[in-house]
Amino acid sequence: MRILVTGGAGFIGSAVVRLALERGYGVINLDALTYAACLENVASVADNPSYHFERADIRDRTSLDHIFNKYHPDMVMHLAAESHVDRSIDGPADFIETNVTGTFNMLEAARSYWESADRPDRFRFLHVSTDEVYGSLPTNPQVKFTEDMAYDPRSPYSASKASSDHLVRAWHETYGLPVILTNCSNNYGPYQFPEKLIPVVILNALAGKPLPIYGDGSNIRDWLFVEDHADAILLAIEKGRLGRSYNIGGENECTNLELVQTVCAILDRLHPRKNASYTDLITFVSDRPGHDVRYAIDPSRIRNELGWQPSVTVEEGIERTIRWYLENESWWRPLLDRRGVGVRLGVGEGSE
Ligand SMILES: NC(=O)c1ccc[n+]([C@@H]2O[C@H](COP(=O)([O-])OP(=O)(O)OC[C@H]3O[C@@H](n4cnc5c(N)ncnc54)[C@H](O)[C@@H]3O)[C@@H](O)[C@H]2O)c1
Repeated sequence: MRILVTGGAGFIGSAVVRLALERGYGVINLDALTYAACLENVASVADNPSYHFERADIRDRTSLDHIFNKYHPDMVMHLAAESHVDRSIDGPADFIETNVTGTFNMLEAARSYWESADRPDRFRFLHVSTDEVYGSLPTNPQVKFTEDMAYDPRSPYSASKASSDHLVRAWHETYGLPVILTNCSNNYGPYQFPEKLIPVVILNALAGKPLPIYGDGSNIRDWLFVEDHADAILLAIEKGRLGRSYNIGGENECTNLELVQTVCAILDRLHPRKNASYTDLITFVSDRPGHDVRYAIDPSRIRNELGWQPSVTVEEGIERTIRWYLENESWWRPLLDRRGVGVRLGVGEGSE
């Protein structure tokens, strides 16, 4: 079985590529190599004869048709996207072009290929999305995101992902394309680009720089280790029901402040500072406009229907992640020079 993975040089996509190859799939990695990509993420599989890389942009329909016809994939896992909320506030156009128009192109290229191949039964188009499409939850712990909740996206990023989810569903209802959707909570783990909260905190701490916390740090997120997400979406493409959405989350809710304190406590143990705790570096900065209060996933459907459960607790996963960053400076150091890294984004006029 061959899977066409889009966005396979990014954080989650590369975890999917590595896991799918380990499980015996052939993989075609289609990625435009934007600022967020890193071919080093898949360097460990680059010589695997079952792995192929194609540099292509999902905004370019012609190149998508070419890749479908060249490799004849059995399944598609669509992860390529602009993924950083702060960048979506400063420059929403890229998010509409890649996440909405790019997904439309992927659906049309997949449909054209699937119809020309006489609609093979085993074909699947799995669309990887986010819990942010559901909007912001109240702090009442009884209320969680379920798959039948109405969409209520509130940032350009989440609105673009919500739009892409609607397109994917429409292609199933209208054309019968065999799709499955997944909506996952915040991921963390090795190879995460140093603009997202956990790598920013780890790398700033190691450099003795302030650890920025938006607002008062009370916003709640539900964290999942990236390898558990990759495992969940492989399970969803293998066993998921057509046209169905699956919410994926680790049931690990914590405030941003608690999360940063956890990172600091583990760093204090693994890589102590002289006569000080990393928590002394915590600094509160102005909030993100429209910052959603709380995300929390109810993963009952994927757990009960498909038997998925996460393999690591958040403490174990964060410790593994910190150890990985401590041991892989050659991976992250060059990324600090990329456009926008280390700069406060998403506060309106650019930087602060
Ligand atoms: N990171 C999270 O916490 C999280 C949570 C839930 C869902 N998701 C979703 O998972 C997917 C992957 O997220 P990530 O965090 O790995 O993102 P990422 O930014 O690390 O990687 C995105 C990848 O997509 C590629 N890409 C971007 N635009 C492209 C284009 N026009 N054509 C081809 N390739 C393009 C980039 O080069 C990069 O390799 C996204 O769809 C995102 O919405 C992410």
